[in-house]
Amino acid sequence: MSRFWHPFANMAATTKHGRVVFTRGRDCMLFDVEGNEYFDATAGLWYCAVGHGRERIAAAIGRQAAELASCTCFDVYASDVTLRLADRIAAASPVEDPRVFLTSGGSDSVDTAGKIIRRHFALRDQPQKTMMIAREGAYHGMHAYGTSLAGIPGNHDGWGTLIPEVAHIGAFDLEALERTIVELGAERVAAFFAEPVIGAGGVFPPPQGYLRQAAEICRRHGVLLVCDEVVTGVGRLGQWSTSDRFGVRPDLMLMAKALTSGYQPLGAVVVSGAVAEPFYAGEGEWLKHGYTYSGHATACAAAMENLDILEEEALFDRVVELEPKLPALLGSLAELDAVSEVRTAGLLAAIQLDAAELERRGATAAEVNEGCRDRGQITRLLSCGALQFSPPFTATEEQIGRFAEAVEEAVTAVGSGSKKVAQTGP
Ligand SMILES: Cc1ncc(COP(=O)(O)O)c(C=O)c1O
Repeated sequence: MSRFWHPFANMAATTKHGRVVFTRGRDCMLFDVEGNEYFDATAGLWYCAVGHGRERIAAAIGRQAAELASCTCFDVYASDVTLRLADRIAAASPVEDPRVFLTSGGSDSVDTAGKIIRRHFALRDQPQKTMMIAREGAYHGMHAYGTSLAGIPGNHDGWGTLIPEVAHIGAFDLEALERTIVELGAERVAAFFAEPVIGAGGVFPPPQGYLRQAAEICRRHGVLLVCDEVVTGVGRLGQWSTSDRFGVRPDLMLMAKALTSGYQPLGAVVVSGAVAEPFYAGEGEWLKHGYTYSGHATACAAAMENLDILEEEALFDRVVELEPKLPALLGSLAELDAVSEVRTAGLLAAIQLDAAELERRGATAAEVNEGCRDRGQITRLLSCGALQFSPPFTATEEQIGRFAEAVEEAVTAVGSGSKKVAQTGP
């Protein structure tokens, strides 16, 4: 029995039910130690945009590791590939006069944003401007800021108070955004955090015009807009940035995941020149924040190669091509009694299981998830009771069609067996 403590797991249940141990990945397929083959319908945890087993990225990692695996990026130091990647991210991002702070993942990016924002206002003689507004259903990673900003109750609760200066509002409630700013006092509200499309909360695309109107409210009240594009960035909705797609230029934009397609851990915070100004102008100011692996050369080399592949194979266009087909490929699942809705956006979908219908049948959503796995499909049960669909951008219509068939079979089959304890992801 391995001593590995799984993230987002109930270890009693994981120990009892046994692990699924993967040994190999090729394009959209994963292979386990027992020789079973699975379609990776979640692209790992939303990240594997270019698919598994890309030798080009492995070779780029090997070359960089042999030349200079990593060096400190604190103070005056950097690696050449770190600078090239930061400039590439800056050039692609819809942030005014951008500066790019590199991290090791999405949660790092969220915490970094929270701290940069607080220092920004402190240096602007507004130290009382510390409140952050976040949304119900939001997922912003699991560091202290992310846990406090979380709008998924199970993730937010149970830790005591981490960052107390957070207010939550309804996911798409523009009136609540403005009212909360006014009630708290704009002089106290530093930032509004939003995922352009709510991801782990259940794949909820916003109503038309929502993000633009939210950006306008923030601008009017001097509140910074932070777009968390850890899931929606780097092509998941067919463009580098989904803020851009919705016509919005955030003050800070957070990225991770598809930046490297998961071949190395890497995240980024793209910060506007105006927010960075007190750190850069005049005598400047030390930002006493950073990670050992901020700007890690090998992670940056993996990102560069991954971005080359995305460009050369026009994989954002592939998402644009698949997006209008998804409702037809997956939508008929909504006709099943135990599926209440199928939501899609870009190459993202959530198949919302109907908890009441499953209960009536004496079945659980966890059994549906397992049934999908038994049929060679790796999906994931989100805490709202929906199955996640976010495959590599290389997924074919045939593969998506087979996924839909397997989900239909799994949903139809449940109800005869005994109940199992539900295990849900973030
Ligand atoms: C929107 C969003 N922000 C932040 C994170 C945290 O990223 P990480 O798990 O790399 O720390 C996630 C992870 O799923 C995410 O979906």
